[in-house]
Amino acid sequence: RIPLLIDTDPGVDDALALLMAFNDTRHEVVGLTIAAGNVGLKHTVANALKLCEVAGVDVPVFAGTAAPLLHPSPDAGYVHGQDGFGDVGYEPAKRQVEAEHAALAILRLSHEHAGKLLLVALGPLTNVALALKLDPTLPQRIARLVVMGGAVTCQGNITPAAEFNIYFDPEAAHIVFEAFEHIDLADWEAVVAHGLHHDRVIEWLKAGSTRGQFYERISEKTRLWSIDRRGDHWHAADALAMAFALEPDGALDVQARPLSIELEGTHSRGATIVDWRRQEGREDRVAILMKYDHERFERLIRDALAASPA
Ligand code: BDR
Ligand code: CA
Repeated sequence: RIPLLIDTDPGVDDALALLMAFNDTRHEVVGLTIAAGNVGLKHTVANALKLCEVAGVDVPVFAGTAAPLLHPSPDAGYVHGQDGFGDVGYEPAKRQVEAEHAALAILRLSHEHAGKLLLVALGPLTNVALALKLDPTLPQRIARLVVMGGAVTCQGNITPAAEFNIYFDPEAAHIVFEAFEHIDLADWEAVVAHGLHHDRVIEWLKAGSTRGQFYERISEKTRLWSIDRRGDHWHAADALAMAFALEPDGALDVQARPLSIELEGTHSRGATIVDWRRQEGREDRVAILMKYDHERFERLIRDALAASPA
């Protein structure tokens, strides 16, 4: 099985992506490294532990860094609930977080699974950037890096130009995008193009197992917010990135281009600047997902919500 390490800030759409990963028999989730982002680290760690418990999986959870590398940034509690899981007041998980720091866990696991590890980053890139600063040879041991982040024509969700994960810690994103020679990217605009109709989501949730029932509870607040703010379709960003990670052959159109992270700018900090016309002569390092097989995307989600703990 392909070893899969997920760096994540759960977060409601992160949780869906994790359930998809847990349900995939061709991949083995070897760890969850936890970032701050959607909400503070205390909550994202607690949420990861709880999700593992509900899903019945024994995956180690490593806490990362509680703040962006340089500048503080506001969270997204207004989307995901103040606790990141819809404020449903769940009973905390009995299991504990590991002692090892997330950045060190990334490095250790990259050695243990050298050349084979699939790394999927679903939150701000703080932990991955720190791991790179500690050991710049990290990319040599990663088989594939998939990132959810950015807005490739600068139609962001957190500012007019920037997407949340990149905006939260642009310096970290810059470090990661400069260090890896190849990144598979599912950006916010791809997510908008792959919305899930709320009526269908509700059908899947109603047919759900223990995992699905828990997911129905924790996602209700954000789904209602989404109906109110964005209409008929739900934009489950991290789920699309996970589909791309788990079943890359479901990608129907991928465009490789150079990409830079904007670190300055009155209106543009955190923007992902894609050199679409290759004007700067840089390498095409980022493979941007443009179109993914929608039926396959829906099937991966539906199956993940229907699955029961082993
Ligand atoms: C990204 O930001 C977060 O709120 C989501 O979990 C996702 O990773 C979408 O912009
Ligand atoms: Ca996320």
